[in-house]
Amino acid sequence: MPEHKITEFFNIYIESFLKRKTIIKNPLYLSDIWIPEQIKHRDRELSLIFQYIAPIIKRFKAPNLLLYGPTGTGKTLSVKYLGKQLDNLSTIKKLLIKHVYVNCRIYGNKSSSLYYILRDILSQLTKKVIKDGIKTTDLINELFSYIQEKDISVLIIFDEIDSLIKNTKEDDFLYLITRDDHVLDRNRLSFIGISNTLDYLKDLDARTLSSLNAIKIGFKPHNALQLYDILKERACLAFEEGVVSDDILRYIAAWVARESGDARKAISILRLAGNLADAESSDRVTMKHVERAIEGYDLDSFISEVETLSTHHKLIVLSILEEQIKLEDQSFVSFTEIYERYIQLCDEYGLRPLSKDSVGKKIKQLETFLGDHMEVYVKSFGKQGRKKVVMINLDKEKASKVIKFLRDNI
Ligand SMILES: Nc1ncnc2c1ncn2[C@@H]1O[C@H](COP(=O)(O)OP(=O)(O)O)[C@@H](O)[C@H]1O
Ligand SMILES: [Mg+2]
Repeated sequence: MPEHKITEFFNIYIESFLKRKTIIKNPLYLSDIWIPEQIKHRDRELSLIFQYIAPIIKRFKAPNLLLYGPTGTGKTLSVKYLGKQLDNLSTIKKLLIKHVYVNCRIYGNKSSSLYYILRDILSQLTKKVIKDGIKTTDLINELFSYIQEKDISVLIIFDEIDSLIKNTKEDDFLYLITRDDHVLDRNRLSFIGISNTLDYLKDLDARTLSSLNAIKIGFKPHNALQLYDILKERACLAFEEGVVSDDILRYIAAWVARESGDARKAISILRLAGNLADAESSDRVTMKHVERAIEGYDLDSFISEVETLSTHHKLIVLSILEEQIKLEDQSFVSFTEIYERYIQLCDEYGLRPLSKDSVGKKIKQLETFLGDHMEVYVKSFGKQGRKKVVMINLDKEKASKVIKFLRDNI
């Protein structure tokens, strides 16, 4: 297309976009990317965290902390806030304190997870690219020498630490980080681990547990009033005035409080309801939009999760769903059935299929990634022996919608 045509096209779209009346002033405030200035109703948790972390300021070792609580209780938000406060304080008071934040879940369940997490920590600290081929023990030594050489105190935050421990059986991971004999002066390193539950601790060996010796701080689900306050702030920033009434916010807050107390879910429902109202060119969000948003929430959250997956992961999810939907009871499908369907799909999309082993590994990764949405079991089939079976927890109608989404997006 000639350039003047492109400019014309561009202008038409931009103009119609600018002219279009929208009730959403700024969608950023309805997303997870935005970090609020204030954390609401977590005073008890924050004051405990600050109280325990305070020794770092005076160059003492802070106790290791484990933060735990259900999804959406503000754990990640709280540590990000803590990190920001520490950075500000270090700049103002010229302190030699650094913090590093790692989300362990993104490293999945590979046996090399620990290695890549250490690389991440080291490159965040040194702001350098780490050479390839360096061994895990060398990475640890380098980390400790850097800390000593620069004479800094470091707080390492491991978010979703349970996913790492649970999947890689890396007991040694915590031990390596927390044990005594690495640093001459081990006061320089403090550690915060975050997880939904503390169940993973029972899988650790005694040696690791004792070197960890952590203080545990629990985060409780938000109640309706707290969720209302969280939603109110976001709604004021995100929507034009008068678009979302207090009654609507109270309704969402009460519904989510009854169901889980998960702030992320409350915010997502508000966002979905807002988008539905906007798509209909409605001038306000009504109860009908909220009800539809609540209905669509499960599906929406599933789709937004699978949307981020690699093509082969998507093909595997599609294979499971297409096999499962054939079954009357929507129950488990076997690994063999999944693999056969996967081969067919690869052929259909002109892709080279991965080996059975690799697909097995990817199914394991999906199990972590999709959490409650996916179950994997080893089931006994009598004389035929034991087989791995998989199920994705979606009803038939939702499964068809995800299949359509995947078919349109691979
Ligand atoms: N107490 C709170 N005050 C304000 N926003 C909150 C609060 N708790 C959670 N949120 C918001 O809810 C979402 C989920 O919070 P997050 O800290 O990621 O939860 P968790 O890590 O416990 O699963 C984020 O968008 C966060 O900004
Ligand atoms: Mg979190």
